Amino acid sequence: MKVLTIGSMNIDHVYSLDHIVQPGETLTTGGMNVFLGGKGINQSMALAKAGAEVYHSGMIGEDGKMFLDACAEYGVNADFIRTIDEKTGHTIIQVDKNAQNCILLYGGANQCLTEEFVDEVLSHFEKGDILLLQNEVNLLPYIIDKAYERGMQIALNPSPFDDKLNACDLTKISIFLLNEIEGGQITGEAKPDAILDKLEELYPEARIVLTLGSDGSMYAHKGERFEQPIFKVQAVDTTAAGDTFTGYFLAGLIDGMPVPEILRMSAKASSIAVTRPGAVQSIPYRKEVDEALKG
Ligand code: RIB
Repeated sequence: MKVLTIGSMNIDHVYSLDHIVQPGETLTTGGMNVFLGGKGINQSMALAKAGAEVYHSGMIGEDGKMFLDACAEYGVNADFIRTIDEKTGHTIIQVDKNAQNCILLYGGANQCLTEEFVDEVLSHFEKGDILLLQNEVNLLPYIIDKAYERGMQIALNPSPFDDKLNACDLTKISIFLLNEIEGGQITGEAKPDAILDKLEELYPEARIVLTLGSDGSMYAHKGERFEQPIFKVQAVDTTAAGDTFTGYFLAGLIDGMPVPEILRMSAKASSIAVTRPGAVQSIPYRKEVDEALKG
């Protein structure tokens, strides 16, 4: 079973601040770093670092060649990444003294996918393969429809949530991986159990993985529910914590692990990622996660 992510690649410009800037305020930053990020590539990297065979597809500009180097370094197949005449996506990320962040996203090349490109990429995958999506590229409704026609299992991280998701046929999704804010935006519910109840009612066949920040995570599928608390650590940067969780969760499913163990492994992987700055670089390898789980 192969995993394909069609997703974003962003150059993250990360600024350390005492607090997130307020309207009308000018703040001098404590520091600035440039990291590789983007929800799509972060999740591909997490899958690869967790041991899965993963293909990443998407678009970058000439200024994004370092993503190809990172794919080679971390073992992500980059055959379906295209370089086009457009700027690579980028972000401005503020990280405050409590490790909370806020993100400004410029889509750039991530928003330049074409139907022909999607068709070409999907033609290399077949029934049963997994397609992982987020909401940082264009053509999401088309990609979902075409992958579903091929019989692929579609995993969706509906992040960042916006109106474009309303155009997607979410009944075609096999696995939702989302946080409580996105869960609330899709269902109109606020409490985790109510979000899960509603999602199960709307999408009775789908597995649902709901992350709850410091309250841990929950899983629901066909009447079965599991919960996992977080591993408490001193966070320095929470960027890509959710992406790490998503990649590790899918890798655990592919390995056929029991769901409670997958949740535990994913929580541990995220807890390690938040102790490090950046996105792609902050995601731990499986060996490190397994060792930390023993300790
Ligand atoms: O989920 C974290 C990611 O969101 C960052 O790497 C940034 O690029 C934004 O897309």
